[in-house]
Amino acid sequence: MSHIAANIPEYTQVPRHVAVIMDGNGRWAKKRLMPRMVGHKRGLDVLEDMVRVCSEAGVSYLTVFAFSTENWRRPAEEVSFLMGLFLVALQKKVIEMNKNGVRLRVIGDRSRFSPEIQQSIVDAEQLTAHNTGITLTIAADYGGRWDIVQAANALIAEGKTEINEADISQKLMLADAPEPDLFIRTGGETRISNFMLWQMAYAEFYFTDVLWPDFDAAEMHKAFASFQQRERRFGRTSEQLPAEQQRA
Ligand code: FPP
Repeated sequence: MSHIAANIPEYTQVPRHVAVIMDGNGRWAKKRLMPRMVGHKRGLDVLEDMVRVCSEAGVSYLTVFAFSTENWRRPAEEVSFLMGLFLVALQKKVIEMNKNGVRLRVIGDRSRFSPEIQQSIVDAEQLTAHNTGITLTIAADYGGRWDIVQAANALIAEGKTEINEADISQKLMLADAPEPDLFIRTGGETRISNFMLWQMAYAEFYFTDVLWPDFDAAEMHKAFASFQQRERRFGRTSEQLPAEQQRA
């Protein structure tokens, strides 16, 4: 098999890896004349639900964008609230998730987080490291370009003078996970916003106007249904696909 073919994902009915931009928390709260923070708090509860929904559906990896490199620009009060929620996820929500066999991981540049958050990340990852259920990856202070650059720097550090696609893939933060099959963005925006740029090369994109705090099991299953209806050709013609993958 050629190197390029080896990098093209296999066809699966249930997405193995779902990547989500959980957008719309602020607007959800504003519509209810409540502070944005209320939307974020509910957003974390929805995330907890979606880990269960994805796990029950047979998804192996769920990766969510919790805090982008650009989110530091938000008002200090909001940044601080989001940091607090991150701690709640890492210190409290992780206990129940651990019981349910969830493996928790965090990707991104950890250096700008407080020592308490950095330690809680290590603890949460260690606690859940040997779980065999769904892997929940929280992208925090993460950017897709940053990920590619840190991969390239890791290769430079190894003394490589010439690199190929596989080299980069192996140094990305989520190197050991299959690439996302399904990318969901809630809240009506239709941008990738510097999420997992490299790994989204073949992802199916699903956009919904539903605000993240209103997203629920039924909405997740709509996204799965949409994914299942699409014909994923990975550059081939329709006729080259096995019969079960061809559109009726
Ligand atoms: C986007 O909504 C959401 C965020 C920037 C934060 C996402 C965080 C959570 C869902 C909860 C916290 C989870 C963890 C793991 C810490 P927005 O505020 O940009 O919404 P808007 O576009 O309506 O303003």
